[in-house]
Amino acid sequence: MSYWIAPSILSADFARLGDEINAVLSAGADLIHFDVMDNHYVPNLTIGPLVLASLRKAGITSTMDVHLMVKPVDRLIGDFIAAGADIISVHPESTEHLHRTLGLIREGGAKPGIVFNPATPLTVLGEVLEQVDLVLVMSVNPGFGGQEFIASSLDKIRDVRSLITASARDVRLEIDGGIKVDNIALAAQAGADTFVAGSAIFGSNDYAATIAAMRDALGSIDG
Ligand code: DX5
Ligand code: ZN
Repeated sequence: MSYWIAPSILSADFARLGDEINAVLSAGADLIHFDVMDNHYVPNLTIGPLVLASLRKAGITSTMDVHLMVKPVDRLIGDFIAAGADIISVHPESTEHLHRTLGLIREGGAKPGIVFNPATPLTVLGEVLEQVDLVLVMSVNPGFGGQEFIASSLDKIRDVRSLITASARDVRLEIDGGIKVDNIALAAQAGADTFVAGSAIFGSNDYAATIAAMRDALGSIDG
């Protein structure tokens, strides 16, 4: 099992965004989690494809894991792919036609992901697992960084892991919200392989030490 650590730029200093991303990449991050919020699907507002395009223009080549918390979502997908997104994840509640939305991401050349909120059942996953390369389980309600981890998300992680195993497909299982050095191993034990961490990394004063501590915690379990 290869574990990936994905710092969420929601907790970065936006005045120095490119430098912050380069800093976490130098500190050992595997990919960058890019949270897009619209003050409609979620009660917060962040950044769009122009910012992603600027980061690419500035020479950032890392994998960009774009988490879309916007409704409606379809019209923005092409813009994010053109801007340089590698993975694009959508919430089923943000689209009337999830199958079409995931198809737009794949046809555009990016990897599709599906996101489940804490209160969203996994019922649609069986219908679309063949279409996705990533399942993202929210361990907070989306909208803000720095919230408390919701422990019941671990049961959902276990359920998704079983479905992925049964499918025999190569699908990443990502967890997002409240992940810290002291609970990352619990998430991995439940079956997660990709870990979003915003405040835990960008709120620390030594990004490399924090990411190393996360890897140590992951190394202490049998992956
Ligand atoms: C929340 C976002 C998360 C957020 C996580 O809606 O999707 O990616 O940045 O932040 P932390 O790690 O601080 O909970
Ligand atoms: Zn996110």
